[in-house]
Amino acid sequence: MLEVSAITMKFGGVTALDDVNFRVEDGEVLGVIGPNGSGKSTLINVISGFYRPTSGAVTLDGASLSHLPPERVRREGLVRTFQNLRLVDEMTVLENCLAGVYPMLTTGYGFVGASLASLLGLPVARRRAWEADLLAREALHRVDLEHRLNDRVSELSYAEQKRLEIARSIALKPRYLILDEPTAGMGVDEADHLVRMIVQLARDPQQPMALFLVEHRLELVLDVSDRAIVMDGGRVLADGPAEEIAVSQVVRDIYVGGE
Ligand SMILES: Nc1ncnc2c1ncn2[C@@H]1O[C@H](COP(=O)(O)OP(=O)(O)OP(=O)(O)O)[C@@H](O)[C@H]1O
Ligand SMILES: [Mg+2]
Repeated sequence: MLEVSAITMKFGGVTALDDVNFRVEDGEVLGVIGPNGSGKSTLINVISGFYRPTSGAVTLDGASLSHLPPERVRREGLVRTFQNLRLVDEMTVLENCLAGVYPMLTTGYGFVGASLASLLGLPVARRRAWEADLLAREALHRVDLEHRLNDRVSELSYAEQKRLEIARSIALKPRYLILDEPTAGMGVDEADHLVRMIVQLARDPQQPMALFLVEHRLELVLDVSDRAIVMDGGRVLADGPAEEIAVSQVVRDIYVGGE
C-alpha cells in the first residue's frame, strides 16, 4: 500500500501542499481532482521523488520513499507520466518504448518478476536486449499499437502518441501508475477512449496496477475510479468512494459555475 502522510511542500512563501494525507491500495483506481493550482502535479512530483517534501513522508508498504531519487522510486514500481508528452519524434514507436525499458533492466530491478530470459540462460547483455524487446512489444500490443512498431513518432496521431507514452509506462509492469492529466489536449471522445483504455489495463487480472489519475474531466474520472480525492489550495478537501464524491457538496462548491 502507498501511503502519503502529513506531506507539506513549500516553495518560498507558497504552500503548494498543506498536510496532505491519503492511501492508495494495490489495484485501486484513485481519481484526483481539483482546480488549477490546487497542488495535483506537485503531489505527483513528491510521490515520484522529483521533489523532496518540506515535511511528511511517502511510504510503500511502510518503507519510506521520500528520500529516494526518481529512478529508485521507479524501481519500487511507481511509474509516472508528465503533463506534456516526452517522446522522441525521429525515433520509431518501438525504439521509443525500448528507450524507456532498456535502462531499467539492470540487476536488482524490483518489479518485472522472474523473467523467461533468465530461465533460458542467455548471456546478460543479450538477455537484457531480448527481455526489453519482449516487454516493449507486449506493452505496445496492449495499447493497440502493434501495427505501428516501425513508424516514426512524428507519423502518429496525437492520440496514438499518448497511447505510446502509456505503453512505455506500463512496459515494466508497474505496481502504481501515476498519470498527470493524460487527456490534456484531446477531444471528448478521444479522452474518454484513452481513460477507459488505461483503466481497463489497470484492472487486467493478469497484470493489475493501481492508478493515481489526475484528470480534469470530472464526470469521466469519477465514473471510472474506485475512490477519489478532491484537492484545493494544497489540501485534500474530500476523500471517499467516487460515487459519493460525485454528489458531494465539496465538488459542487468547487465546480458548479466553475469548469
Ligand atoms: N517549482 C515550483 N516553484 C514554485 N511554485 C510552484 C512550483 N510548482 C508548483 N508551484 C505552485 O504550487 C501550486 C500548485 O501547483 P501545481 O502545479 O501542483 O497545481 P495543479 O493542481 O497541478 O494545477 P494544474 O491543474 O494547472 O496542472 C501553484 O500555486 C504553483 O504556482
Ligand atoms: Mg498540474
